Amino acid sequence: MGGVGGSLARSGVLIFASQLSERRRLNGENPSQRERPPNPSTQTPHTNPLRSRSMAKSFHVTTFGCQMNVHDSERMRGMLASLGYDEAESRDTADLILFNTCSIRESADSRFIAHLGEAKRLKSEQPERIVGVGGCWAQSVKDEVFQRFPFVDVAFGPGQIHKLAEFLNSDSLSAQGYFEFEDFAGHLPTRREREFQGWLQISQGCNCVCSYCIVPSTRGKEVSRDPGELILEAEALAADGVREVTLLGQNVNSYGRSLPPGRRIGFAELLARVDAIDGIERIRYTSPHPKDMSEDVIRAHAELPALCEQIHLPLQSGSSAVLKRMRRTYNRQRYMDRVALIREHVPDCAITTDIIVGFPGETEADFAETLEVAEEVGYDGAFTFVFSPRRETEAATMDGQLPHPVKVERMERLLEVVQRRARERAQRFVGRSLEVLVEGRSRTDETKLRGRTRHGKAVNFEGAAAPGEFVEVEIETTTSQTLSGVSVKPLSQLL
Ligand code: 5AD
Ligand code: SF4
Repeated sequence: MGGVGGSLARSGVLIFASQLSERRRLNGENPSQRERPPNPSTQTPHTNPLRSRSMAKSFHVTTFGCQMNVHDSERMRGMLASLGYDEAESRDTADLILFNTCSIRESADSRFIAHLGEAKRLKSEQPERIVGVGGCWAQSVKDEVFQRFPFVDVAFGPGQIHKLAEFLNSDSLSAQGYFEFEDFAGHLPTRREREFQGWLQISQGCNCVCSYCIVPSTRGKEVSRDPGELILEAEALAADGVREVTLLGQNVNSYGRSLPPGRRIGFAELLARVDAIDGIERIRYTSPHPKDMSEDVIRAHAELPALCEQIHLPLQSGSSAVLKRMRRTYNRQRYMDRVALIREHVPDCAITTDIIVGFPGETEADFAETLEVAEEVGYDGAFTFVFSPRRETEAATMDGQLPHPVKVERMERLLEVVQRRARERAQRFVGRSLEVLVEGRSRTDETKLRGRTRHGKAVNFEGAAAPGEFVEVEIETTTSQTLSGVSVKPLSQLL
């Protein structure tokens, strides 16, 4: 897989919190009568307390992992809203506590398991609560979820979000797991976090066999969605106020290969068709794989007005020997050729990456090559990861596993290079006026606004504008991650 960007965790936003337990009391129900035995094999079915449509119900979802998971959670929100659920401000006021999990590294597992402890406590206080675990971690352990965490009521893999609705609407509340791989089941209503930004999932699954990666086993084989259906969906997003769309897939630029010949288009063509939609002013995508980064896709960045000057090109390692053991199917030279082609066609393009440190057998000389590539490319930003052995992956049992302190020490050296180069790269923006899509208030300074440039750089700036507006910002200073400036004028006034 290309890798779907860096990890982020988001929790639910208050829309409306209901007081189900209070209503149940008023309805004469006694929650303690509704105890549900935990283990699916020993359970007897009980009446589902959340089934009654006359009752207000609330949910809370916590998201771990990549943008694909963030998007899946938006689909959960939309689906639950259509079932009459409101979003609760916090877990302790929710009738349905959901986790959308990630399994990419061990740290993702352990973060989630710590949160699950709180759900256990809340459930013991109010046993009619439903606890649901979806996403990649659930898929990777399947029914073991119920053995390890007997208080979990429903578990489902990333392709089975729609089954949550089936479960919630069923009469029985014996614990259920849904882990099939099906064709794309994306036709769910979506509740977007920001109305002016939307995701378009163009494919699911991944046909790569990167030896460190759990994703092919959690998200299945690659299936591209029909281009006609995608364009209709993108048009609907534009009509609904989306100005920036991000095309999503584990390996976006291999798009189209699984389509029947009469319907098949490549990724560059798909980009062109989305670019032609009125109202879509910015297009991004994540993540591409360097092996599929063809010249037509790179040229599209120079030719299509909406396609942003930003490419995420996961390196993983700068050593050809390590890349081979990772089964990445490119070597250092081919990767650098892609970078050169990007610089040739789109000189100002921001290039970001993912790098894994401490892969099994990585020697000091291999690591030095990673440092060299990071130095030479000068990434605008990088997600850096310590290698984490994942169950049932080839790399987990490879010889030459490195001690943790070695990985940490290499990570520190890599961070120094990555941050220094990103800071240097960001200097090119100082003194320039850049188009910024306003996202809201600055997280660090309430008096400022925050937005993003076409290069994907976060900007904090002084000025007045509403979220969703484009403004021109004069950049004054930078750090490795963020730009700062002053808004000159709303871009609409420039036209
Ligand atoms: N250990 C560390 N990092 C990993 N990634 C994927 N699998 C692992 C692993 N087992 C990183 C890759 C990928 C990103 C999303 O996560 O860099 O591109
Ligand atoms: Fe995303 Fe799943 Fe991969 Fe985590 S394991 S990064 S959630 S696809």
